Amino acid sequence: MTTFAEVKNVLDTLASTHDIVRMKQKHGGAAFNWDTAENLRNAVAKITGATFRLIAPEFVGNGKADNTYLVRLLSGPIDEENLPQMPFRGPAASNDQIKIVRNWINEGALDDNTDCTA
Ligand code: HEM
Repeated sequence: MTTFAEVKNVLDTLASTHDIVRMKQKHGGAAFNWDTAENLRNAVAKITGATFRLIAPEFVGNGKADNTYLVRLLSGPIDEENLPQMPFRGPAASNDQIKIVRNWINEGALDDNTDCTA
């Protein structure tokens, strides 16, 4: 199982060379964050009037992670929607980093299990 902690580490690493406050503002504010798994499941980027859900629920837990905006934009630009690859101006995610995000989404985008008896 891929943990949310691994996903958070990937996204934090990718964002670490950027001004985080400015990055959030550029994506519409507080709803753009991955502080917790729940926050990431609900995260949106609001760009000039349009709202992009990073992980649309219909693509969670069913092998369709590659359809999410998050995986698509970490992988490359979406030219038809005028969206550049993220993080804008890099550094681009490695295949291994993308794999972690993809696997977590395909495994259900779950919270990390803190209960060993579950
Ligand atoms: C639905 C997902 C996302 C959308 C639609 C989106 C869209 C955009 C757009 C349109 C810009 C502005 C580019 C410009 O100035 O021309 C931008 C900037 C940026 N994005 Fe994203 N983004 C998304 C997710 C992400 C993620 C997951 C990261 C980091 C891991 C990220 C990192 C950045 C950074 C660092 C900038 C530059 C901010 C600055 O100007 O300082 N974005 N994004």
